[in-house]
Amino acid sequence: MTTFEKPEIKTELPGPKAKEILKKHKKYISHSYPKAYDFVAEKAKGVWVWDVDGNRFLDMVAGVAVNSTGHSHPRIVEAIKEQVEKLIHISTDFYHEKEALLAEKLSEIFPYNGTNMVFFTNSGTESNEGALKLAKYSTKRTYIIAFEGAFHGRTYASMSVSASKTVHKAHFGPLMPGVFFVPFPDRYRPPFNAPPDKASAQLIDYIENVIFKRVVPPEEVAAFIFEPIQGEGGYIFPLEDFFPKLRKLADKYGFLLIDDEVQAGLGRTGKWFAIEHYDTVPDIITIAKGIASGIPMGAFISKEGIMSWPMGSHANTFGGNPIAAVSALETLKLIEDELMENARVVGEYYLSKLKELQKDFEEIGDVRGKGLMIGIEFVKDRETKEYNPEFRDKVVLKSFHKGVLFLGCGPSAMRIVPPLIIQKEHVDVAVDILAEVLKEVREEMSGS
Ligand SMILES: Cc1ncc(COP(=O)(O)O)c(C=O)c1O
Repeated sequence: MTTFEKPEIKTELPGPKAKEILKKHKKYISHSYPKAYDFVAEKAKGVWVWDVDGNRFLDMVAGVAVNSTGHSHPRIVEAIKEQVEKLIHISTDFYHEKEALLAEKLSEIFPYNGTNMVFFTNSGTESNEGALKLAKYSTKRTYIIAFEGAFHGRTYASMSVSASKTVHKAHFGPLMPGVFFVPFPDRYRPPFNAPPDKASAQLIDYIENVIFKRVVPPEEVAAFIFEPIQGEGGYIFPLEDFFPKLRKLADKYGFLLIDDEVQAGLGRTGKWFAIEHYDTVPDIITIAKGIASGIPMGAFISKEGIMSWPMGSHANTFGGNPIAAVSALETLKLIEDELMENARVVGEYYLSKLKELQKDFEEIGDVRGKGLMIGIEFVKDRETKEYNPEFRDKVVLKSFHKGVLFLGCGPSAMRIVPPLIIQKEHVDVAVDILAEVLKEVREEMSGS
């Protein structure tokens, strides 16, 4: 198979084997997991994934920003195999070298020049849970501010600081108290309908003069937690000048900035961390997803001086597991040596191709991206920017039937988060199929 072959769909979808597996899945596995369509995976390599019926798909999702080095990259496979033979688990009561090496690397790439410290977790939500505890511990303050539209995870503290969909919280209350939400500095739909050049200042003014004067005393705020680019909320990009202003506010009132880079981080946007595009140094960064190429792992990294909690105050069993640690070390090497630059270059190409496509389809209200974190928002009307979820859902489903995996996010956006190894030729294949899909969905929806 040459690298640039096209998707190949040989059966109806889902195919016969997939249907059998789906039956068992639906019978025994919790239905609370969101599912976009019935893709039943058998194997994957690079940017291609095969289902159990032998159909081949182009992967524009990467396990939701997880398979950053592509599926089963030979260097990752080798590193894992070697480690499995030596040591699989030892527990956080003891020490091992790979974990220390990985922490050293994460400390180095944190955008503050100092002895930044690391805590290893097993998922994004655990990273955020820990970061929130650390912020409360280190400031000895109580309250947390977060953004409307945020998604930080599904355990209690992370769920409580999330506000992207109420289904995430329905019947799970009471939530963690002391959380306040403010609008996200959305570049496409600026808060308060303010003109884009004034919106950041207006939002900061709202936080300082409404929230901090009427809602919560700023000297009791422990942290502001945010995604620099909102993921589950709809691939929403911030106004360029907002985060430096928020940094100033945090310094003025002494609260910490927790930057959730679980989806946007680790080279995907063309820099180690998305917040670096916005010239802001946070106090704590949380990561997971893409760090270990698919082996479950997460971490939070804090600026020198913050992680000074005593022994026993926070811990877990699996954090820094040797298999995950070697996979992460090799992942970070690959990202540093080639993939971060590839994400930047191919991401720019992808964005330009999608902007071309936007000219032919008024249903595309916005195309936005940094590196290989790209969102397409579907609207009913470009002026009113009314959401068009039905159009989005049909595009995602039809793309699957034509052999390209995309996923939705937010009210009516579609996300493109491919492995960071993709080439321009893969982009051409995906965009050609997307163009076909858009045309067909348009025809279907207009009844012709
Ligand atoms: C920004 C962000 N934070 C946290 C999480 C939660 O991560 P996990 O599902 O690994 O707990 C996610 C997952 O989508 C995410 O996108």
